Formats: sequence, C-alpha cells, structure tokens
Amino acid sequence: MLPKFSSRAFLAPMAGVSDPALRLQCKQMGAGLVVTEFTNIHSIIAKENQLKEKMQTIQEFIEYSDQERPLSIQLFGSDLFALGKAAKIVEPYFDMIDYNMGCPAPHITQQMAGGALLQEVNLTQQIFSTLVNAVKKPITLKIRSGVTDASKFLFRKIAEIAEDEGIQMITLHPRTVSQGYSGNADWNMIKELKEISSIPIVGNGDIISPEDAKTMIDETGCDYVMIGRGAMGNPFLFEQINDYFRTNSYNEYSFKDRLDSFFDYLHLTSEYKIKFANIKGQAMRFTKGMNGGSKIRSKITISKNIKELERIMNDAYMVS
Ligand SMILES: Cc1cc2nc3c(=O)[nH]c(=O)nc-3n(C[C@H](O)[C@H](O)[C@H](O)COP(=O)(O)O)c2cc1C
Repeated sequence: MLPKFSSRAFLAPMAGVSDPALRLQCKQMGAGLVVTEFTNIHSIIAKENQLKEKMQTIQEFIEYSDQERPLSIQLFGSDLFALGKAAKIVEPYFDMIDYNMGCPAPHITQQMAGGALLQEVNLTQQIFSTLVNAVKKPITLKIRSGVTDASKFLFRKIAEIAEDEGIQMITLHPRTVSQGYSGNADWNMIKELKEISSIPIVGNGDIISPEDAKTMIDETGCDYVMIGRGAMGNPFLFEQINDYFRTNSYNEYSFKDRLDSFFDYLHLTSEYKIKFANIKGQAMRFTKGMNGGSKIRSKITISKNIKELERIMNDAYMVS
C-alpha cells in the first residue's frame, strides 16, 4: 500500500539537485513526497559489498534523514538479477521504490535503461514483475510518453503492463525521450493516462507556479503533481501550492528570502557528504532571476570552498 501523502505536490527526482539537504528543505516547505536522485542498481550492489566489510549500511552511500519520510528511492538499470538484488538491499531503508523509465541522457539509454525501455515491452514486463516480487514495499514508475514523435503514445501500453504487474503509481512527464526538454509537456497525455488507469497518476512537466499546479489537476484529473525545475532554488513553491489549494492565495517571497533559504540549505548540507560542485550548482539556482545574478553566478563558478561561497552569497544581499 502507498503511504499517506501530506500534500498533492511532490518533489521530482533530479540528479545532482535533489540531494538530501534540498529534499529535506522541500519536505519542510510542504512537499508531500520526495524522491532520491536516480541510482544505478549495479553501484548499489557494489557499494553494499564494500560497506558490509566495514559493518556499515547502504545509508552511507544513499544519504537521507527520517524527517524526509515518506521517502522514495529511484532506481535505474535493467539487468533483472541485479534489479531484484538492489531492490532487496534498499527496501529496509525506504518507503517506496520508484523505477526510472524516462531518463533521456544517452549514457543511460545506451545501456538499455531510462527512457529507452519504453519501446521494450517484454523486458519492461519482466522488470516490473521482478521488482514487485522482490520486495513488499510499493513499486512506482516514472515514465516519459514515448521515445520519438512517431512513438509518442508508448505510455499507453507501458501503463497497462505496469498496472497488470502490480505497480502502484505512475508519474508521467509527457515529453518524448528525443524531445529532451524542448517544446511543452503535453498535459493531454496526463489526462488520457488518468482516464485509462485505476492506480494514482502523478502529472509532471512545466509546473512553475501554484496556478500551474492547480490547472494541471483541474485539466487532467491527476491525483498528484510532481515538480522539478520549478522547485530548483525555490523550495517555497510547495508551501505556495498547499496554501493556494487551501485558501486560493499564497505568500510571495523576495530575493532576500531566497538567499536566506540558500543559507538554510547550506546549513543542512553539513550533515551530508554532498559534493561542493553540487552545492555551487544549488547556489546558482537560488540566485536565478536576481538583480546582478549573472555577476554573482560567475563568482560562484570560480569559488573554491564553502567559506568563499558563503562570502559571495552574503554579498548578494547588497545587490538583491
Ligand atoms: C537536473 C535534472 C536532473 C534530473 N534527474 C532525474 C532523475 O534522476 N530521475 C528522473 O526520473 N528524472 C530526472 N529529471 C527529470 C525530472 O524529474 C522531471 O521529470 C522533469 O524535469 C520535468 O519536470 P519539470 O518540468 O517540473 O522540471 C531530471 C531533471 C533535471 C532538470
């Protein structure tokens, strides 16, 4: 059974972005579900072997805190034996396991993973059945609509197989793999998926405001919405969406609030082994749209350590 979600707005898994500090921040701002960055099933197995020798658990590799719960881990990779094994390794630590069938990056699709799987009906069916039989925790799925424009409705068949095999929730980002992030997400496809499915559907793609979140739910009937880029450097969006759904209004936040929020994020990172390059990436996003932002970002790029980064972000208060 799926856990209970405190909000209909979820934070999307984003490699290099949805680290444990940002996830916790979004959770504290009202996200109903947070998902780890996608994780390679083979690296889970390899790491577990190393960690066991040191009497440590997979938590050293995939960092999280209990305050993030309900927490979902996203996996990718299509080797069935490794998939079952990796799912069993992570099961005790996470509330749900999400399977990635959307990633368009060539280094992923070339290893028969991510979005490339949408066109592999038999393998897909085996993947779902392997996951569902390996563990007791709910398995969910995240897909794009298809691979190319000519195959943009592959999601219909995949969703049918998923439901038959016991997948408990599907997130659809209605762009094709070859589209990358160009054009618009076709929300009509989310509506169609909702109509043909009897499990909860999460709509994803191009939500950047509370109004967008409401429009997607109203137009498609989806059960939940998932937000990626709109929440980058902007964890306030979850509170705004929740307020908007409840009261039809929400608080606006200033650039000063965004900077405060970056320092909250930075404070949270001290608990985890997040790469400095990723923290710099977050700093860039928290300054997006800010007066003098591009100057600040060029300084961020060349900063060498947390102390320097803190100084640059402190100076940003003067120009914001
Ligand atoms: C930097 C970045 C990293 C991403 N990494 C993942 C990932 O690890 N797993 C995944 O399923 N989707 C990933 N995505 C896709 C998002 O989860 C989401 O489906 C997509 O960005 C569309 O939603 P949006 O318009 O709200 O951003 C990533 C997107 C971005 C921008």
